[in-house]
Parts: sequence; C-alpha cells; structure tokens
Amino acid sequence: MTGNTLAIIILAAGQGTRMRSRLPKVLHEIGGRPLVGHVLTTAQRLGADHVEVVVRHERDQVVSALAHDYPDAVFIDQDEIPGTGRAVQVAVDALPDEFDGDVLVLSGDCPLADADTLRAFLEAHRAGQAGATLMTAVVDDPTGYGRVIRDESGGVDRIVEQKDASADEAAVREINAGMYVFRVGVLREYLPTVGVDNAQSEMYLTDVPGMLRRDGSPVAASVVTDVTVTYGVNDRAQLAEVGRLLNQRIVRRWQLEGVTVIDPATTWIDDDATLAPDVTILPNTHILRATKIAEGAIIGPDTTLVDCEVGEDAIVRRSDATLAVIGAEATVGPFSFLRPNTVLGARGKIGAYVETKNAEIGEGSKVPHLSYVGDATIGRGVNLGASTITANYDDVHKHRTVVEDEVHTGSHTTLVAPVRLGAGAKTGAGAVVRKDVPAGSLSMSIAPQRNIEGWVEKNRAGTGAADAAARSRVAE
Ligand code: UD1
Ligand code: CA
Repeated sequence: MTGNTLAIIILAAGQGTRMRSRLPKVLHEIGGRPLVGHVLTTAQRLGADHVEVVVRHERDQVVSALAHDYPDAVFIDQDEIPGTGRAVQVAVDALPDEFDGDVLVLSGDCPLADADTLRAFLEAHRAGQAGATLMTAVVDDPTGYGRVIRDESGGVDRIVEQKDASADEAAVREINAGMYVFRVGVLREYLPTVGVDNAQSEMYLTDVPGMLRRDGSPVAASVVTDVTVTYGVNDRAQLAEVGRLLNQRIVRRWQLEGVTVIDPATTWIDDDATLAPDVTILPNTHILRATKIAEGAIIGPDTTLVDCEVGEDAIVRRSDATLAVIGAEATVGPFSFLRPNTVLGARGKIGAYVETKNAEIGEGSKVPHLSYVGDATIGRGVNLGASTITANYDDVHKHRTVVEDEVHTGSHTTLVAPVRLGAGAKTGAGAVVRKDVPAGSLSMSIAPQRNIEGWVEKNRAGTGAADAAARSRVAE
C-alpha cells in the first residue's frame, strides 16, 4: 500500500571503540546472537519491505556473520564521511526511487527494542501528521545521550548532542533514544543539507528534526515508559547489563508459558531456545542456541545444553551437552559430557562421569559409570559395564564400534574399533575385545593370574605394606 510501506535502516558502521575489542561491537553476543542480530530479528518480525544494514568498520566480518541468518538484509557501505546522518543518507540513496513510505531508523547496538514496542511506535507516527517521530525517554542520568529540547508549547524543537549542549540543555533529562521514523521524503530533502559544523565534525542525523521545525513542519515524540528498551551497548559493562535484561525477559516469557524456573538469576536461556510447559529448570543452568526441551523434562542444576533436543520427562543433571539428542524419559548425569551427535534413546541412561561423541545409544540402553563411548552404534537394552571404553582412534583413523541389542559388557571392557559385538553377547571384566564377538558368545581376555607369595616383605622391607603383611602372617 503506497505511503504505508516500510524500510528499516540499521546503523552498524561505527567502530565501538569503548568495547576495546578485536570484534566489532555489533557482533558481541547476548542471548545467543550478535547485538545487531537481535535488531535484525526484530526487523524481520516487523515485516519491512526493505531492511538495510549500514556497515563500514570491519565490514566483511560483519557481513559474513549476518548474511546467512538474514538473507533478506541488504548491506550498504558507508563512505569516509562520518556520522549517523551520513549513514542514513547512503542507505536512503540505495532505496528504490519509487519507495515513498516510512523509514524506521534503528541502531545495531540497541538490542532491547522489541517488535511490540516498535509496532506501537510506528502506529503513533502513522496516526499523526509529523514528518518525523522520535522515540524518547525521561531518564535519571542522561549522560552521553542527545537531549530533546522542547518549545514553549511542549512540542519537539530540536535535539542537541551532549558534546554540543549548553549547561541548561545538558540538564534536560529527556533523551533521544536513537530510534526514529521519518517519511522518506523528509530524509531525501534534508540530509543533503546537513553539515559537519559541530563538536564531532560529523553529519548528525539528529540535526534533521530541528531543520524540519525551522521550516514550520511538526516533529512528534513518542515517550517510552520502559526505559530499558532504549538501552544501548557502548562498553562491556553495558553489554553484561543489557544481556541480563534480555535474559530476564526471556526467562519471564517461558515462566508465563508454564516453565518452572527455580532461580531466574542463574538461569540463562538463549532467544532461539524453546521449552514446553511443565519443564523444570534448576539453578545455574544454560539453555543455549536452538535447544528444544519437551514437556516434563527436568534440567539442572549446573547444566549447559547447546543446540540439544531433550525428550519428554527426561532428566539431565550437572552435565554439559552440545548437539545431542536425549530421548523421552532418559536420564543423564551427574557429571557427564555429551559431545556432538550423541543420540540417547528413550528410557536410556548416560550416568556419572561418562563422555560420548558421535554415538547412537538405543532405547533403554545404559552407560551408567565412567565410560567413553565414541563413534559407536549401541543397540537396545544394552548395558555397558563400569568403565567400558571404546578405543576408537588408532592414531590415524577413527573407527566405529557396533554393539547389538541386549549385549552386557563386564567392567573395564575395552572395545578396540573397528569391532562388532553380536546380539546378546557378554564380555568378562577387563576384556580387551579386538575381534568381533558372535551373537550370544562370552568373550574374555584371560591371562592366568599369578600370586607371588612373600614378594612384598622381600622387596619392600620397611614399608607400611610389608609391616602389615608381616602382622597378618603372624596373626594367622
Ligand atoms: C546517537 C545519537 C544520540 C542518541 C544516541 C542514542 C547522533 C548524532 N546521536 O549518539 O542523540 O541519544 O545515539 O543511543 O545520532 N553509526 C554509523 N555510522 C557512523 C556513526 C555511527 O553507522 O558514522 C552507527 C553506530 O554503529 C551505532 C549508531 O550509529 O550503531 C549510533 O552511533 P553512536 O556513535 O553510538 O552514537 P551515539 O554517540 O550513541
Ligand atoms: Ca551509541
């Protein structure tokens, strides 16, 4: 619908000096995504006709970090002329000439402005007649922000940057949040006339509202009550603070969806994770990336899940898992480490101090204690005895171990891959299995046990062991 179409311009060309980082500021992550990724995700939710990201500092790194996840975004290069005004100008120039809608300007370092807030902001703009609408907030400490200067009748007169403000202007506590809607014609008309005659020798986007007013056109302001939506990240302290606020929001969202979170302060849930009703999250637990947790599962305490899938009523405690699938009613932990491509079947068990990798463990199968299972296919109803180890690596290649249904291995079995244990086979304690074991066989590696009597007293005279042996001999 002409006149009502939307372009979103996201400013991300700045260096972010105060981060003191090799990584461009907008690529620092909170909630499992770069700062600017949150802004792009919000832009997607708003359904704009054009989404442009203005880049310059480390532009290749920024573009390659985002291009895959946001294929609809267009990256626009800012030239050597500095300032937010120039950034918006190059983006507006890249819009099609026939575009005549509204332009929503956002900052790549302000990730907390959510879609609902911005939708209301757009509606407020569209309901009025102004050529520009600013988002503003009244804050206790306006340091660092542009101040919104109002006229006698209470309308917006102009924005003054902190570095250009008089003492009276600096005392104003209504700040420019750095988010705006402009009719595109306003930007096309006024940006070419914005100069660099200011304390920072930059083209300020914030000059445009004042210019509009000088020409007698109204400028509207939309004052947000929740000031956190305006928070930007300029340094690492703000990165942590904004990350905490985002997490608080995410945790609260899941609580309202029926998830029990015992300790929100130590529970970290990424924006892409999904949790079903009646999931319980115990303290100090990280649910990261696209992890999916089904109904009734209990996770934690002290657990990290990255890109995992957890089935209904499963229990995962004090463990660390990446790219693992944990079946319904399965149990994991404490103190286990599930590496990528671990698939634990329904009602299966990975117990204490177990490491798995690239391992498929069938329904109802158990790896209860102290094992390493790597590059393995384990059937159903299998029990790997304590300390069963797959020796999957011969210094050159990784090899696969196949354990068929209902196999039970004795404690401390070493499975030297490639090797296959047929259905129902058993191994004795300490077996080193180098050859395939036929179904239903017992495999043992027996070296006859030899006891050399008196060896300790003879060879270790004077030790506690020798004394104890001597006493026990006398007592006999
Ligand atoms: C800006 C506003 C200020 C407002 C504040 C809100 C201006 C002149 N000032 O100040 O009124 O209160 O945001 O957070 O606009 N950027 C570019 N190209 C540039 C310069 C900046 O793309 O040449 C990008 C940055 O990467 C950043 C955003 O624009 O994402 C804002 O720039 P920044 O330097 O952080 O502006 P502030 O000083 O915070
Ligand atoms: Ca800023």
